[in-house]
Amino acid sequence: MLISLKDIVKQYGSGENAVQALKGVDFAIDQKEFVAIMGKSGCGKTTLINIMATILLPDSGTYELDGKMIHEFGERELAICKRRTVAVIFQNYNLVEELTIENNIILPFLFDKRKYDRSYFERIVEDLGIGSLIEKYPAQLSGGEKQRAAIARALLIQPKVILADEPTGNLDNENAARVMSMLRLCVDAYQQTVVMVTHDKDMAQYADRIVTMRDGKIV
Ligand SMILES: Nc1ncnc2c1ncn2[C@@H]1O[C@H](COP(=O)(O)OP(=O)(O)OP(=O)(O)O)[C@@H](O)[C@H]1O
Ligand SMILES: [Mg+2]
Repeated sequence: MLISLKDIVKQYGSGENAVQALKGVDFAIDQKEFVAIMGKSGCGKTTLINIMATILLPDSGTYELDGKMIHEFGERELAICKRRTVAVIFQNYNLVEELTIENNIILPFLFDKRKYDRSYFERIVEDLGIGSLIEKYPAQLSGGEKQRAAIARALLIQPKVILADEPTGNLDNENAARVMSMLRLCVDAYQQTVVMVTHDKDMAQYADRIVTMRDGKIV
């Protein structure tokens, strides 16, 4: 088991404004699994992805990732985990406007002063169809191109777990298929694990398993 979430509860705000986003989520994922999460807007999908990414800590419940309990991590371990073990493809891309697309993609390596695999970089940007855009800035790209740059950044890290929040939300069919093939390749050729949120049944078909969320729970 690579990921094991037990009775995860997460609330935003307090008092009258409190929103119970997750109401006791149990979820286990094996290494080399490709899981799609589906469910209505507001049911807690992004919250769950952020908890799995260790960006957000649950109010209660336990999260075991790759044999380690996340709540026992110190700040340093969490920071390293975020840059190496799990990579997130965000719903809103999270690109840095002041950096070129190339520097955005290699940013986790710049932070860590680590080398990256240049031939894998070239393969990813070509396969995602953004090879000619790497010297541009995010503001010069379309939404779908930015989305693919964010995907390239997550893939280059070659993390154990790729968490993707609607990675094809802004893509046409051809580019969506490209992205899904890349994610499938991550699992089949690189032994990675992919957890993907999608509203699109066709995209979910690329996964090995589809789970549904409803009102803060996996059903
Ligand atoms: N930062 C926040 N502060 C307060 N409430 C929040 C916050 N983020 C999310 N929520 C609320 O928590 C619930 C779950 O939100 P979440 O973003 O996880 O939903 P989602 O399933 O990803 O929806 P979508 O499909 O629209 O992206 C929603 O009711 C939302 O309004
Ligand atoms: Mg969401």
